[in-house]
Formats: sequence, structure tokens, C-alpha cells
Amino acid sequence: MATVDKSTAHSADPSPRAELPGQLDYIQYEHSLEAQYLPAIRALISKDLSEPYSIYVYRYFLYQWGHLCFMALNPTDSSLIGVVICKLERHASHSAPTLRGYIAMLAVAATYRGHGVATALVKMAIDAMAERDADEIVLETEETNTPAMRLYERLGFLRSKKLHRYYLNGNSAYRLVLLLKPVDVDAAADPEPDECLPVLR
Ligand SMILES: CC(C)(COP(=O)(O)OP(=O)(O)OC[C@H]1O[C@@H](n2cnc3c(N)ncnc32)[C@H](O)[C@@H]1OP(=O)(O)O)[C@@H](O)C(=O)NCCC(=O)NCCS
Repeated sequence: MATVDKSTAHSADPSPRAELPGQLDYIQYEHSLEAQYLPAIRALISKDLSEPYSIYVYRYFLYQWGHLCFMALNPTDSSLIGVVICKLERHASHSAPTLRGYIAMLAVAATYRGHGVATALVKMAIDAMAERDADEIVLETEETNTPAMRLYERLGFLRSKKLHRYYLNGNSAYRLVLLLKPVDVDAAADPEPDECLPVLR
């Protein structure tokens, strides 16, 4: 779902890089943290979007699958450095329905990129979905988003489909899939577009 509109920024991000402020705290989102962290989550993710998602989009995910949202926090002041937001649902368009995880949003503060923060967050999300018996995990990412493509492919995601002019900015995307269990190869080779949310930007 989420992608960046400023696609050229992927390879020429001018933000100054900083060392991580020590060992980050990685925590699972919970509803009691909404007032403290939802504004920061929105700000972090919106920063790279041309049209920020409404608060209802965040709540759609966080109310139902807050346990599949993980945050990386600065240990010195508990501020948000990175976040991943996911969902997990039965997907019925396959001949054999699958339990499909979906990575909807992922972002790391520009200053702290390149230190493995997103990798750690995505691994936590994968583990949480695998523990809940997910068959597969899918996502879309802009084809020009080199950091995201590298990250996901390093973690074992495969390109299942190219989605031409998928985003409103005219850019194409790849659908990536991580198979967690043996599945029907024909069904898994061509998953349908995301079953829930239209492209919102
Ligand atoms: C994509 C994103 C989450 C990666 O966060 P991160 O914490 O820097 O990621 P990691 O450090 O775990 O790993 C990034 C990988 O990309 C590489 N990378 C980082 N910046 C890169 C760049 N400009 N060009 C090419 N590769 C780059 C890193 O070296 C690493 O790959 P490697 O370990 O194989 O060398 C971050 O760049 C971001 O928030 N981007 C904006 C939002 C976004 O694009 N979200 C994903 C939408 S699907």
C-alpha cells in the first residue's frame, strides 16, 4: 500500500545520517499508546507521501491488528524512529484460501536509515504473522524504491507481479510475496491486488 511519492529521494536522500542513539527499544503497539504515538506514526509515514492517509486508515489497521504493528523508539526520550504496520486476513480468491499477511506501511526516520532498523521491524512483523499461522505475506512497493526492494528481497520476498502505473504519480510497483508455507504454486504465483484498500494517493 504505502509508498513514497518522491521517488527520486530513494537514491539521493539528502538527509544527514546519524549514528543510532544506542540500543533502540522495539515495542509492539497497543491501544493505550495511541495518544502518545499515533501522531508521530502519522507524521513519520506521511513525510514520504504526497497525500497523507487520513487518521481512519491508521485506525483501520491499528484497531484490528495493533499486535502486528511494531515501533522502534529512541532509548533516550522514547521518540519514534521507525514503524511497521500490517494486517492478517483470510484471503479467499485462491482455490485454497490462504491466511495472508500484508505489510501496509513501513518507515524509518531519515536520519537513522541504513542501520538495519527497518530490517528489524519487518522481521518482527514476519515473526508475529508466522506465529499466527500466516501462509504468506505480501506487499507492494514502488519499483524505484531501491532501499525497500533490497530490504525485502534480502529477507526472502520474491517479485510476484509488476503493477504498471500502480500509483497516482504514474510509477509502477512490484508486488512482493514471502511464502511461509508450501502453497498451491499456481495460486501463489499471481496474487490478486490488495483485497482491502484502494490506492489512497
Ligand atoms: C525503506 C526504509 C524503511 C528502509 O529503512 P532502513 O532502516 O534504512 O533499512 P535497513 O537499514 O534495515 O536496510 C536498508 C537496505 O537498503 C540499503 N539502502 C539504504 N539506503 C539505500 C539507498 N539510498 N540506495 C540503495 N540502497 C540503500 C541498505 O544498505 C540496506 O541494504 P543492505 O543491508 O542489503 O545493504 C527507509 O528508507 C524509509 O523509511 N523510506 C521511506 C518510506 C518507504 O519507502 N517505505 C517503504 C514503502 S514499501
